[in-house]
Amino acid sequence: MSLPADLALRVAGPDDLPAIAMLRAAVGWPAHEWALRAAIQAPHARCWVAIDANAAVAAVGSGIAYGRLGFVGNMIVGEEHRRRGVGAAILDTVAKFLENAGCQRLELFATDDGRPLYARHGFELTEPSVTARVPRSTTLHEEPRVTLEEDADIGELAAYDAPRFGGDRRPLMEMMLSDPDRPMLVARRHGAIVGYTWLRADGPRVGPLMADTPVVAGQLLAGAFRRVPDADELSLNLPAPNGAGARWLRGLDIELEEWEGRMARGPQIPRRDDTIYANLVGALG
Ligand SMILES: CC(C)(COP(=O)(O)OP(=O)(O)OC[C@H]1O[C@@H](n2cnc3c(N)ncnc32)[C@H](O)[C@@H]1OP(=O)(O)O)[C@@H](O)C(=O)NCCC(=O)NCCS
Repeated sequence: MSLPADLALRVAGPDDLPAIAMLRAAVGWPAHEWALRAAIQAPHARCWVAIDANAAVAAVGSGIAYGRLGFVGNMIVGEEHRRRGVGAAILDTVAKFLENAGCQRLELFATDDGRPLYARHGFELTEPSVTARVPRSTTLHEEPRVTLEEDADIGELAAYDAPRFGGDRRPLMEMMLSDPDRPMLVARRHGAIVGYTWLRADGPRVGPLMADTPVVAGQLLAGAFRRVPDADELSLNLPAPNGAGARWLRGLDIELEEWEGRMARGPQIPRRDDTIYANLVGALG
């Protein structure tokens, strides 16, 4: 699919951040500058913008490759350019980039607006996500043998994460570990990592949150609450196959809300859905 003649596609750079943030704001999405920077600058990530004759940014879309698994994100076409094939052209470009980077399975979190476009490009709805808002007042049991630390060796953390997430997100984890404002909380049992979470500044939010058991997930949440004293609640976002996680949350009297927008193209890859309690942010998976 090619672009209309009045637009041209180019790879985005850091100077495009304000214009992309404006496109995001126009559809009611927060800027998430750290995530946008990652989509532009992380290795194996690329972002494209469509520009008009005045070099103004008219549309955006990004992709990030984690080995076999890739995520499409940041798909926005300015209102005046919709229904002209711009979204399709950007999606084609992002998908080709991800496939050339070795991705066999492409995933995304689709809005209602985006679903028909993705469906036309071979994406199908997968199991829904389940979202849960955990109030600070929730009693979260802790396992005495599990300790929380605020640091980890990147190799060890990436080796824990990859088989559970289904892809190698080491470059992003390096970024998280080196961020002085947003600590990583790492749970260990007898020295071995059994879960971790990252405290995002935009929120307050946690994500990713990976844990081998619901109790460890709860312990990480309790640790996160201690680090963000102003937060009344923290949100989780589980893939539906994490049944143990959902049962644990229901047992805590927490309401679960199904969200139907997860879509994917390509064969399922080995991963441990039962260890996923929160994703990072839509565009980065
Ligand atoms: C979703 C979104 C990116 C789609 O972008 P778009 O540029 O309008 O997408 P396309 O033009 O490729 O396709 C949209 C429709 O226009 C149609 N179309 C494409 N070229 C056309 C043309 N020249 N003339 C008329 N219709 C055309 C397509 O067939 C499609 O129709 P359908 O939805 O009925 O199947 C855009 O609506 C958007 O930015 N929405 C808000 C943000 C958002 O929700 N993003 C998705 C995040 S997951």
